[in-house]
Amino acid sequence: MSAYYAIHDPLIERVLLTEDEIATVCSTLGARISADYRGKPLTLVALLRGGLVFLADLCRNIDLDLTLDFMAISSYGTGEAVRIVKDLDDDVAGRHVLVVEDLVDTGLTLHYIVNVLAGRSPASVAVCTLLDRRARRIADVPIAYRGLEIPDVFVVGYGLDLGGRYRNLPYIAVVRDEVMG
Ligand code: XMP
Ligand code: MG
Repeated sequence: MSAYYAIHDPLIERVLLTEDEIATVCSTLGARISADYRGKPLTLVALLRGGLVFLADLCRNIDLDLTLDFMAISSYGTGEAVRIVKDLDDDVAGRHVLVVEDLVDTGLTLHYIVNVLAGRSPASVAVCTLLDRRARRIADVPIAYRGLEIPDVFVVGYGLDLGGRYRNLPYIAVVRDEVMG
């Protein structure tokens, strides 16, 4: 573990979830999703860029015939409004859509995305998030698959970033309070 650069980074306080713990979550969620969607046309939709790493591991734990697609959204202003920067490449009509997200915070991002996707005649839309930080929830978005609940701390690694950095860490780490202000 100490081989990874961020352990000695002054911005990082501690490791919250190890590589092994994340692998266990991916395997548990993958097994549940495999059972729930058996025989159904499934599309996993990852939200770029944070959801990418989780999607990569999760999809390899799902033993089903499925497709992958990607969406990028950007929040502007105070984060109350979001807009689509990159839309899906494929039509999801008639398909079961599972949105794969790294972390649900206020829930506003997913609330928006789920509404947009629901308007495209999918067979169903559900959410799978690796992390759930409930402390600041504003929009009550239903989470069908939840990896772990985390306390009210800012986290990086495994897709999550701080100013674009740290996404490649194989673990999830807590950023020091002083950094976030
Ligand atoms: P909302 O508030 O819409 O936000 O649920 C979810 C999005 O915000 C990003 N986010 C974080 N990214 N560390 C990060 O690197 C964090 O602690 C954090 N909290 C929220 C996240 O990308 C998610 O898509
Ligand atoms: Mg994100």
